Amino acid sequence: MKPAWFAASFFGALFVAGGLLFAVYAPIFSGPPEEKADGKALYARNCAACHGATGTSLTAPDLSNDDFLVITPHGTLEAMIAQGRPGRGMPAWSEAMRPVEIRAVAAYVKEWQRSPSVELPQGRIRGDVEEGERLYASACAACHGVSGGGGSAPALNNSAFLKVASDHFIRATVINGRPGTPMRSFLGPQGLANLSHREIDSVVTYVRGWESSEGRSRRADR
Ligand code: HEC
Ligand code: HEC
Repeated sequence: MKPAWFAASFFGALFVAGGLLFAVYAPIFSGPPEEKADGKALYARNCAACHGATGTSLTAPDLSNDDFLVITPHGTLEAMIAQGRPGRGMPAWSEAMRPVEIRAVAAYVKEWQRSPSVELPQGRIRGDVEEGERLYASACAACHGVSGGGGSAPALNNSAFLKVASDHFIRATVINGRPGTPMRSFLGPQGLANLSHREIDSVVTYVRGWESSEGRSRRADR
């Protein structure tokens, strides 16, 4: 056999063997076919009872709200669903759903977004905690609870919330509000409390402070 022929048949055989190995093992590596999840069906089964069939409800946050969705990237939404809001009626779905299912349900909720995503800055916001405490008491406590334990509105002292929500997420929510819900914009003369950017930063700093004293604050609200 000429060397060229030998090389051709040798590598040819190797190629065929490799292909066979791949055909046998590829399905194992990519997981069984049932790893695909139907986000729409999962939402209907697990979420609609509280959040409403189309994301809007009176008892839980409006998941179809555009001002919420544009500042909540897919990964953040997944984390919110996985970690839930223990103690606040929102289960930690990582206990009941596989990661692939959480990803599918988050993708389904993301389909409700109508405007382009807004990329928020990273990093901490540092305002005046005492000013923040005073403003929180007058502008936020009525709905979010005296020490953030929630009421008609979500708990802001909830550790799962604080872990997932960045300072800039909280800031953007206070600036834009969630139109169509009781959560309004608090910025400027059109805002519910005519707060300045600096004052909003102080409120954010005060809310962030619950991350270290979360347990104590939550008990105080009960
Ligand atoms: C009139 C009642 C009301 C007041 C006052 C109010 N909020 Fe809210 N807030 C809500 C409601 C209701 C929601 C949930 C809206 C939704 O998505 O359905 C909310 C949502 C939020 C969220 C998002 C929570 C989450 O789970 O993602 C943040 C952050 C927030 N509010 C901060 C504040 C701050 C800070 C103040 C004071 C400057 C304030 N709110 C004042 C009613 C209120
Ligand atoms: C038993 C009722 C209930 C069920 C079921 C439920 N949720 Fe919630 N969810 C809530 C409540 C209540 C909150 C707000 C927590 C608070 O008030 O502090 C919330 C908060 C959220 C948030 C945060 C919203 C925000 O504004 O930050 C997301 C995202 C969410 N739920 C998604 C889901 C998804 C997806 C499912 C289904 C897999 C689901 N929830 C099932 C009650 C529920």
